[in-house]
Amino acid sequence: MLIDRFGRKIEYLRISVTDRCNFKCIYCFTRQNWKWLPHKEILTFEELETIVKTAVKLGIKRIRLTGGEPLLRKNIDILIKKLTQIPEIIDLSLTTNGFFLEELGERLKDAGLKRVNISLDTLNKDKFKKLTGVSAFEKVLKSIDIALDLGFNPVKINTVVIRGFNEDEILELAKLTLEKPIEVRFIEFMPIGENSLWNEECVVTVREIKKILESFSKLIPEFSCSGGPAKVFRWKNAKGKIGLISPISEPFCYKCNRLRITADGRLRPCLFSDYEINLKPILREGKGTLEEAFFWALKIKPIKHNINFTLKPMRAIGG
Ligand code: 5AD
Ligand code: SF4
Repeated sequence: MLIDRFGRKIEYLRISVTDRCNFKCIYCFTRQNWKWLPHKEILTFEELETIVKTAVKLGIKRIRLTGGEPLLRKNIDILIKKLTQIPEIIDLSLTTNGFFLEELGERLKDAGLKRVNISLDTLNKDKFKKLTGVSAFEKVLKSIDIALDLGFNPVKINTVVIRGFNEDEILELAKLTLEKPIEVRFIEFMPIGENSLWNEECVVTVREIKKILESFSKLIPEFSCSGGPAKVFRWKNAKGKIGLISPISEPFCYKCNRLRITADGRLRPCLFSDYEINLKPILREGKGTLEEAFFWALKIKPIKHNINFTLKPMRAIGG
């Protein structure tokens, strides 16, 4: 079992399957020039499967595939199919920018994927272009309905709130839950990646977000059993839910249950610490064992993060 020195039980693994992305979100891309990883540095599906098989033996039960944009990874449905066949995994999910869902959604569903998180930070077409660098607002908005039609459940929407950019859209975004059975989750802006645009004033705290939401209608707490960091609510008569995630104002490190794997095969115990364990020498040169690497990761997993900049941007770590 993966229990760290602070008693946290680790059962969730987030795997970045590629560092590539077709978007350039301002909160994710940094001003520094980032070079894409050479293909040979990126773990193969076989290597990922080997890691996951070890991880489930050690108690990992939930897996999320992320990127970059995971749907840019060729034949991602083949990996999904392999992972869904591992009986110990009770939850497999995927975080996407939604761009390729129309094209690939059905293949993902057929491969056994049950749920998706789609990033959407604005309902304004021009702002969307400014935020992501791509004119794809309609396409991404449509991908939410496509995901629902395909039967993904739950469909969650990730919204990073940045002061001066989209805090004026909180109500409008949340109102999507009145008509659609989705969970819109508001996430405090985090300082990730060297030279990030982040500064403290840009953070709209969950407390502020809650006040804005309650100006429309009282938030009714919902029971959430996923053990994740979101506090979940619902407006009366709404079809969907609202999640609030507060990494900055109320860090949830004390109940952190996750480890990450970067696209180039580094086991990363904490989003906010650049300390990583390189799994490639184990996988490719037989140096040491994956079990040892996981237990070492537990040893170095910090008790809490001090908000400082990580060197790597989110897309290199896995969102
Ligand atoms: N702060 C908060 N969330 C972020 N994400 C990426 N960068 C940041 C950041 N700086 C999240 C977004 C996106 C997912 C891939 O990662 O929610 O949807
Ligand atoms: Fe945006 Fe996600 Fe791509 Fe980063 S990885 S640029 S957050 S879509």
